[in-house]
Amino acid sequence: MTARIIDGKAVAAALRARVAEVAAGLAATYGKAPGLAVVLVGEDPASQVYVGSKVKMTTEAGLRSIEHVLPATTSEADLLALVAKLNADPEIDGILVQLPLPKQIDADKVIAAIDPAKDVDGFHPVNAGKLATGTGGLVPCTPLGCLKLLKTVRDDLSGLDAVVVGRSNIVGKPMAALLLAESCTVTVAHSRTRDLPEVCRRADILVAAVGRPEMIKGDWVKPGAIVIDVGINRIDAPEKGPGKTRLVGDVAYDEAAAKAEWITPVPGGVGPMTIACLLANTVTAACARRGWAAPAL
Ligand code: GUN
Repeated sequence: MTARIIDGKAVAAALRARVAEVAAGLAATYGKAPGLAVVLVGEDPASQVYVGSKVKMTTEAGLRSIEHVLPATTSEADLLALVAKLNADPEIDGILVQLPLPKQIDADKVIAAIDPAKDVDGFHPVNAGKLATGTGGLVPCTPLGCLKLLKTVRDDLSGLDAVVVGRSNIVGKPMAALLLAESCTVTVAHSRTRDLPEVCRRADILVAAVGRPEMIKGDWVKPGAIVIDVGINRIDAPEKGPGKTRLVGDVAYDEAAAKAEWITPVPGGVGPMTIACLLANTVTAACARRGWAAPAL
């Protein structure tokens, strides 16, 4: 048997279309579409690509996009001053500061400076705390996207064994909190975990978020499992020609697909969901801040 593919590209497109519909309704009712400020510091090429996509999709969904591009030499004080200005601006509903930041800037300090009500990345300690305690708040986009993908194949996750490989603040920890809130039995595995293959083999839901190309092998996957691959790794692909590269996930796809019931591809799985969820979070933040009735997304 080979796994069925969870088509993140299609699910993300549907979510963006829903966001666009809601944004148009809000603009018609309240005279203003939600506004997202994206801040890019420096010239990291991957970050430039991500921010370019965020700006394009924000506009395409009918949201207002406000872009700030600062030089790599920007001081922490100057970035904090911009964040303070965006916090105070009533026309800004969401603030995203693209990571990583240049080394002279303490990212934790910048994240903590963002108004939690505008923190569409869900990285502020207040939002992380609300997620951990199940008291609402804005949820990080990538794990939120993973949960939405899981829900397309299984409505009720309660009682399932979920293993999250990776313990980052951006993916692993919030993913674990979301799965726990769905009443899964959650294990968070990481680089120090003993016998990782055996831990993974217990998983009905296996979420890989380690950033190591094809680390999770086929025989680590329980037959019938749902595999969510968050990894986006560029590796050499000499078979495509000299100097060529290709994108792979954290999961050895072909092997894992032979065992799983459902699997997300790379690219076209989790990746497109992240920006779609960012747009959804921007609408959620705008409605909460402005006291607008929040339609379901
Ligand atoms: N860099 C890589 N992923 C992300 C993300 O989700 N949000 C931000 N702000 N920066 C990132």
